Amino acid sequence: ARRPRVLSGIQPTADSFHLGNYLGALRQWVAMQDTHEAFYAVVDLHAITVEQDPKQLRQRTRVSAAQLLALGIDPDRSTLFVQSHVPEHAQLGWVMQCLAGFGEASRMTQFKDKSARQAVDRVSVGLFTYPILQAADILVYRANEVPVGEDQRQHLELTRDLAQRFNSRYGKTFVLPQPYIVKDTAKIYDLQDPTSKMSKSVPAGVVELLDEPKVSAKKIRSAVTDLEREVRYDTEKKAGISNLLVIYSALTGRGVPDLERDYEGKGYGDLKKDLAEVVTDFVTPVREKVRSYLDDPAELDKILLQGAERAREVASRTLEAVYKRVGF
Ligand code: ADP
Ligand code: NA
Repeated sequence: ARRPRVLSGIQPTADSFHLGNYLGALRQWVAMQDTHEAFYAVVDLHAITVEQDPKQLRQRTRVSAAQLLALGIDPDRSTLFVQSHVPEHAQLGWVMQCLAGFGEASRMTQFKDKSARQAVDRVSVGLFTYPILQAADILVYRANEVPVGEDQRQHLELTRDLAQRFNSRYGKTFVLPQPYIVKDTAKIYDLQDPTSKMSKSVPAGVVELLDEPKVSAKKIRSAVTDLEREVRYDTEKKAGISNLLVIYSALTGRGVPDLERDYEGKGYGDLKKDLAEVVTDFVTPVREKVRSYLDDPAELDKILLQGAERAREVASRTLEAVYKRVGF
């Protein structure tokens, strides 16, 4: 039987991915290559829903693609591409916008959160309609599955609703995508504030994959802990130590109880020192591979062109069927 097709995307909105992106999402992208027919996109169209700098966006798009390759996305097994290289996303996006209700779009809680503290004219219409473009991203490949975290569930529901509406209005065209519940994801917290998730906005608490290894090591050694001494997993009382244990476990494959036993009678300093080494052993080769992709722009261009061509083969077929059915 054919493998289920999966679509996932990541925005090129930072100079580097961080450990949270890797352990919470990208590690699973790599694993899904064994079980799925994978389409992975650097979703640059989504990155212009907020104000951005063109030179920076272009650079971040390339660096994002280079990181995906360095982390193990294999362009011969997966279709890896940049969203703006495949015009069918925007084309199907428009059709979907005309199918979506204004009220329906207004109920997206992520938009409400993102726009809450801003003046209405500083929020773009693109930010408002971005879940509809996301629906097109998925539907244009007729993806069977989409890996989703809690924050994306509502958007996948919208995608399914739009697919169903199109199918019943114009004839069966789209596959209804299912949420793919990803195994072994870890939620990673900020090293300086272990009650909030690691995110691109607070540099000192974020281990970036492209940090100099000695910078990553220093961030781990300076992680906020607590006033006790016992290395024990307890997210209520020991959020900082628990976060370090989760990172350690995720990067080494060793269970947390096993690690707790290892550090019995030792201090936080020992844990941090060892984890700093685990982290630098992980990021060092990633960083080197990224560098080599960026040093050979022609090769990176070739990989992304090949990815876009493969993506367009599928996307253009879907769009053709859609255009015919709507009357174009
Ligand atoms: P985007 O805007 O592209 O979704 P994010 O940086 O919010 O960018 O997230 C990219 C992916 O990384 C998402 O799948 C998200 O759930 C995951 N992710 C981000 N931060 C963390 C974290 N601290 N722990 C686990 N997963 C995370
Ligand atoms: Na997100």
